[in-house]
Amino acid sequence: MAHERIKGLSMKIAVIGTGYVGLVSGTCFAELGLDVVCVDKDKQKIKDLDHNIVPIFEPGLDVLIKKNVEASRLSFTTDLKHAVSGAEVVFIAVGTPPDGHGGADLTYVHNVARELAATIDDETVVVTKSTVPVGTGEQIQSIISKENPKLKFYVASNPEFLREGCAIEDFLKPDRVLVGTEASEARSVMEALYRPLSDRNVFVIHTDIKTAELTKYAANAYLATKIGFINEIADICEASGANIEDLSRAMGIDHRIGANYLKPGPGFGGSCFPKDTLALRKMSDDYNRHANIVDAVIRSNDQRKIAMASKIIQACGGDVKGKNLAILGLAFKANTDDMRESASVYIIPELIKNGAKINAYDPQAMQQAKALLPQKEIIWHDSAKDALKGGDAAVIITEWEEFADNGFLNDVTTLLKTPILVDLRNLYTHDRVQRRGIAYHSIGRKPV
Ligand code: UGA
Repeated sequence: MAHERIKGLSMKIAVIGTGYVGLVSGTCFAELGLDVVCVDKDKQKIKDLDHNIVPIFEPGLDVLIKKNVEASRLSFTTDLKHAVSGAEVVFIAVGTPPDGHGGADLTYVHNVARELAATIDDETVVVTKSTVPVGTGEQIQSIISKENPKLKFYVASNPEFLREGCAIEDFLKPDRVLVGTEASEARSVMEALYRPLSDRNVFVIHTDIKTAELTKYAANAYLATKIGFINEIADICEASGANIEDLSRAMGIDHRIGANYLKPGPGFGGSCFPKDTLALRKMSDDYNRHANIVDAVIRSNDQRKIAMASKIIQACGGDVKGKNLAILGLAFKANTDDMRESASVYIIPELIKNGAKINAYDPQAMQQAKALLPQKEIIWHDSAKDALKGGDAAVIITEWEEFADNGFLNDVTTLLKTPILVDLRNLYTHDRVQRRGIAYHSIGRKPV
């Protein structure tokens, strides 16, 4: 029995896919004491990881990888067969990109299932870590059974709730761990796997596979709804003269509402909320149900990103033609180099269309930004100071810490031709900017 195998032994697991989720999860499992092999088809990526070159920017991840590789708990390979041999748990953490019709493309997940059918040992638990639509667990079960009818294996769903930028902390100190499986054998193995966390009083919630799969989408869509909601309230604040920061605090202190994800901004981005809300809407349509709330959140957020360009133009006196704008922060949020669905990708082309000259800077995401934004029309800078020099206005799109201090405010006053600051993240109190004579436009608050 699988759970007898793990008793008293260090457990071996394999993680297929060294993207964001796979790499962070694999590394953190090693940190919890498990014997982890991470697999990827991308030879260069594996070669880099072997030399501690980490393909993504995630604070602390390089240090943790090095530590666990040196302790021989973590290794990387392109050889799936070797990786899964002797593994009690195999995580599928490959990409599920948008399929172009609002759903998730499961090609990689299905391919891995086929490969696993020919390679895993009896009694292995095959677990989806990737965000996958309801019913994917069933599909994996049937693909593997069809390919290898004699194999005895179990399927489970174990979605992750990691935020980019603080993924390690989120993995090692989660609010909860969610495990969906119908097989008692798989449940015991997963309980053993997460014992280092449950011993630290982390809740491990057990459900069936479908519930776990859907919970992930529901959680992301709910958080996205909170953001969409507060952003619309921020617009009403702007129109009416109320203050969103005070409102948000007053609302969030109610335990039934909660203070998190009530921070207004330029619209949510990233690889998860936009993709997962679309996928949930598609899923509900497929089941002949209509996710009206999720649908409204998607539309509201899409409109918001474009509306931010108009807000910037208004702050510049209604016209940006020929004006030099310092665009500070391009990533979809701070502490990541991820540009996917970032508000900047929507705002900047609108500003260019209106004749603005863009001077862009991001502390981490420059390379990724260059791949997604119109290269020629943008002047790329190595520092905020350079981007600000001689500009007509500055715009903060991402809440990087370096844009939130007095040194930065001094640069805004001394380096811009006209000290206009559009802050789409509300990094400053009115007091701080007023003292310096900056014309300050933020979200859901009166301009200064
Ligand atoms: C999100 C979820 O928070 C994670 O729990 C989940 O595991 C992950 O997606 C995923 O599915 O993999 P992430 O996309 O890394 O994590 O980023 P968040 O920190 O949640 O932020 C998402 C977007 O919402 C960002 O654009 C951020 O700027 C925006 N946001 C967030 C706000 O505008 N206001 C807030 O109050 C919070």
